[in-house]
Amino acid sequence: MVAKMKDFTKGSLTGISAKVTDDDFKRLIPKERFTSKEWLQKEYDLLWSRVWQWACREEEIPNNGDYYEYKIGDESIIIVRSETGKLNAFHNVCMHRGVRLVEGEHWWGGRGTLNNFRDMFKGKLRCVYHGWAWDLEGEISHLPGAKDFAPERIQKSEICLRPVRCETWEGFVFINMDMDAEPLLEYLEPGPEKLAKYKISEMRLKHHFTTILPTNWKYGVEQYQEGYHVWATHVMDLNDVGAFATLPGGRRAGAMFGEGKKGPGEAGYPEYGKPTIKETPPDPDAIGAVTVGEQFERHTNFWEPDKDIQTGVPKGVKLCDLKDEKITDPRTWVRTAMENMVMQGRLADYELDYFNGLSDDEIPWDMQGPEFMRKNRRDACTAQGIDISDLEETELYGFPTEFRFFPNMLGPIAGNTYGLFRSRPHGDNPNEAIWDVYFMFRYGEEEPPEVNYETVEWDNYPTDRMPRTFLQDWRITPLYQKGMHSRVLPGCRFNKQEANALHTHLMLDKIIGRDFEEVVED
Ligand code: FES
Ligand SMILES: [Fe+2]
Repeated sequence: MVAKMKDFTKGSLTGISAKVTDDDFKRLIPKERFTSKEWLQKEYDLLWSRVWQWACREEEIPNNGDYYEYKIGDESIIIVRSETGKLNAFHNVCMHRGVRLVEGEHWWGGRGTLNNFRDMFKGKLRCVYHGWAWDLEGEISHLPGAKDFAPERIQKSEICLRPVRCETWEGFVFINMDMDAEPLLEYLEPGPEKLAKYKISEMRLKHHFTTILPTNWKYGVEQYQEGYHVWATHVMDLNDVGAFATLPGGRRAGAMFGEGKKGPGEAGYPEYGKPTIKETPPDPDAIGAVTVGEQFERHTNFWEPDKDIQTGVPKGVKLCDLKDEKITDPRTWVRTAMENMVMQGRLADYELDYFNGLSDDEIPWDMQGPEFMRKNRRDACTAQGIDISDLEETELYGFPTEFRFFPNMLGPIAGNTYGLFRSRPHGDNPNEAIWDVYFMFRYGEEEPPEVNYETVEWDNYPTDRMPRTFLQDWRITPLYQKGMHSRVLPGCRFNKQEANALHTHLMLDKIIGRDFEEVVED
């Protein structure tokens, strides 16, 4: 007997899972998932209203009475630190006549405090229109002119703020508008267990960049989960944008290939340590294949334990040999690589400072680049009082681990650093996404810096504070979105290197359905 499948278009999403199988690669995923307002509305109604989504960090709501506004589509959610220190979340709407109660400090929401209000409203959630107010548990505390309301319209239970689920993991604050949702930690499995050793709760946000990308929100989620695009988007096209990848500190400076893949000495391939250039193009199969698309039959996927994906300095080259036509002094080359990695959010300032504090005699010039980067990281962290002893060598540096938490939180973690991305639809326009980039670090005894919040333009962002390589990904966005509208495009086809991107669509199948797709039943 075939077990009846749960219908996830109704009720809570508890128990939903997906795993890509060979048959899924036969599908054409409807382009309307990226272009149609009707589909976007279904995402708001069935996905965003029922799914756990990362809103902010706990350190952004430090004091009782502080809040954070998180927006998704038409909904605004307030997360407030209550008088007991607990985080509570509510729909940000006055139950009198619907005015939004508070606003964050940015157009996209963000931080604020209720402690600056005067008199009876201090520390209360109050409406600016007629002055209704609520305590931080959501109970009405001030209702002017109550006698003039019909009693049945101001029943306490009717006019309390509408609660939203709010739970935390390692300092990340998540919300879910579905009060029946499964507990957050169960939803995130197996991420919390696998990432525990990185001690993310001790990390602090340093940068939060926000931009509006001219593409559907799923583009980013897909693009950052597949290695298939890397050889073309990031390596092959060595124009002014593409060339950044091969500079000191670049994303994959040389050494493109891992164990068992074609490498040094094999015809047509660059030597380890030599940047890939137009004359020595990468093998797309070798490059794409380094993306390990592991799915856990849950909401979480993309575990990339490939220690051979190197960042910043090439493997197979001693420190004393790191130089190129422009930078002939190895110390300057390594420092430049580190400066670029700081700018990319892959290295903390104190690691660069530590290196700069070393005398020439203290630098092990015979050591290979990645090995030295790991040593410098360990030494710099020790000097800061940061304990990273739980981490294996392969987890310290490079590109060892990346998780995606469905639907929209993902990014690489290594050693003392975590780079995160988040993608959301922008209003009722399926052709735009709000794209957030976060750089987090552990700080130890050092006082963490004030968070730098910055709204940037995707095609003109500050390249001294953000990786120039982002432009390689972002320049595709308008092309992708415009092409999606073509009348001759029947839909999107995915290959096995894009399995994790397809995983998003399998989840959406269950949550929303397979509208716009010709489904052939067996
Ligand atoms: S609308 Fe909020 S108090 Fe009237
Ligand atoms: Fe990319």
